[in-house]
Parts: sequence; structure tokens; C-alpha cells
Amino acid sequence: MTRHFLRDDDLSPQEQATVLDLAARMKSDRFGHRPLAGPRSVAVLFDKQSLRTRISFDVGIAELGGHPLVVDTQVTHFGRGEALGDAGRVLSRYVAAIVLRTHGDDRIAEVAAGATVPVINALTDGFHPCQLLADLLTVRERCGGTAGRSLAYVGDAANNMSHSYLLAGATAGMHVRVAGPAGFQPAADVVARAEKIAAGTGGSVRVLTDPVAAVRDADVIATDTWTSMGQEADGLDRITPFLPYQVNEALLGHAAPEAIVLHCLPAHRGEEITDDMLDGPRSAVFDQAENRLHAQKALLTFLLAQTP
Ligand code: CP
Ligand code: NVA
Repeated sequence: MTRHFLRDDDLSPQEQATVLDLAARMKSDRFGHRPLAGPRSVAVLFDKQSLRTRISFDVGIAELGGHPLVVDTQVTHFGRGEALGDAGRVLSRYVAAIVLRTHGDDRIAEVAAGATVPVINALTDGFHPCQLLADLLTVRERCGGTAGRSLAYVGDAANNMSHSYLLAGATAGMHVRVAGPAGFQPAADVVARAEKIAAGTGGSVRVLTDPVAAVRDADVIATDTWTSMGQEADGLDRITPFLPYQVNEALLGHAAPEAIVLHCLPAHRGEEITDDMLDGPRSAVFDQAENRLHAQKALLTFLLAQTP
């Protein structure tokens, strides 16, 4: 059966560890792995904007010996009603894998339903699992491992990053706490799934509204924009209720003394995070961005090796 990576929990704890081990090896021997030599092609499709995801997949596929086809979907039939399952089915005749950034999770599920090659979620409204592989690689590097470490995500707890921290953090055996204002809480089914995973990995999950309680003694403090792509005109006040959740020196003061700071970028400096947090000694943000490259190369290699 074709293996897809649509959500963080599409990798078991053992598989997630395998991918992260491979990512670390690929980082230390950057040009020494060419599983896509041929070259085999990978389609990288965007319904939404991107800098990091777009460039890191393009570069990573080339470094693996493959041929990246990076396409903005407005030049395709995606936006005018072509059945997405048909698109997945057709693309599978051309390429070794499909990477897609899109809106609803139903859209990527439709592509995957038609595809006979791996489909990788490069961000949907619900999840950002490739980002989490990079984040976990960064936590391994900075904190010496993931199991037993505590991670606090503060801000818009209803968004894709919050959901992915819950699922991927629990898979990695972390103690995950997410905190956001009322009305910006994670989906109940995602929390329930993360709790179930955590029960098997020794991790734990807590959903809070108090940012100070969330970050207390945490090893990792993470945040993200308060306005995700597509939410710009949703009519909600996306500033005032979030102000207590800003990652700044005062909030970091409640975390563990050696705590690191993560942000998937792009950042709205002065909103969800201050300049000194992004640029200061506790920031792992730019390693985190670099690690997208290594983590996605490992993910592609892993999924292709699993695919008949
Ligand atoms: N973090 C992230 O996914 O960045 P881009 O939107 O620039 O790809
Ligand atoms: N939550 C953000 C992440 C951007 C990488 C968004 O979806 O826009």
C-alpha cells in the first residue's frame, strides 16, 4: 500500500525516529545520498504561498539526485474544478511523489485517494507535519533528545502548527502543552488522538488558556503567527486576545533556564514574538528553518523506500 504523509501521526513513533535519525545523517553528509538518481521527478504543488517549503523541497529533491517540479496551482486546472483524485492519479504516472500545500485537509485527502505514489502534506489548514519533523530534529540537536522533554506552544492553538505539535510531539514522547485564548483552542479530535499516542510513548498532552502555566519550566517554547494564510479576512480580532501569549523576555522567564525558542516562520516581529527572542541566544529558529531541508530529504527517502 502506498504510504502517504498527510498528518504527523501517519508515522509511528518508531518510524518518526527512523526519519529523524536519517535526517541527522543526511545533514552531516549533505550530498552523499542520491535515492532519486535517474533522475526521478517529484511534483511540489502550491495552492498557498511559501518561501521555506518551496525552496527546501526544490533544493532537497535536487540534492537527492531527483528532478523537482515546483508548480503554483493557479496555472493548472486545480482551481477550476478538476477532480483532485484524477489529478493524483495522473501525476502518479509521471512522478515518484507528490508534495502539496493546500487549504482544507479534504483536498489533500482527495489527491491521496487517487494517487499511487506517496503524497506529502506541505501544510494544510489542519496540519504542518513537515515543519514538525524539522522542529523535532532541532529539539534533538539542542536538547539532546525529545522523549521526556516539555514543549509549550502558545498563541493560536486552533491552527495547523498547534495540531501538529500535539500529534508529532506526543509521537516523540514529549510533554506537549498548548495554550491559546478562548475560541482559539485545538480541535477536540486532534487532542484525543494526541492523548492516545502519548499514552503509548510516555508523553503527555495539556490544553490550557494560561500562557504562563503553559511555559512554566518548559524546555521548548514555540509560537506561530496569529493570522494563518487564508484567515486574513475572517473578521476575528487576531491581535487583542493574543497579546498575553506573545513570546517575549517576560514569558521566557517562566521557562526552564536553558529553554529554546522555536518559530516556523514567517514571523510577525513585535506581534507573536519579539526581536530579542528571534535573534537572541535562546533562539533555534534559523536552525529550525534549515532543518526543513534535511528532514524532508529523509522523509522522501523513507516514503519512497516503503513504496512498491
Ligand atoms: N514555515 C514554512 O512553512 O514557511 P513557508 O510558508 O515560507 O514555506
Ligand atoms: N500557521 C501558518 C504557518 C505558516 C508556515 C499558516 O498556516 O499560515
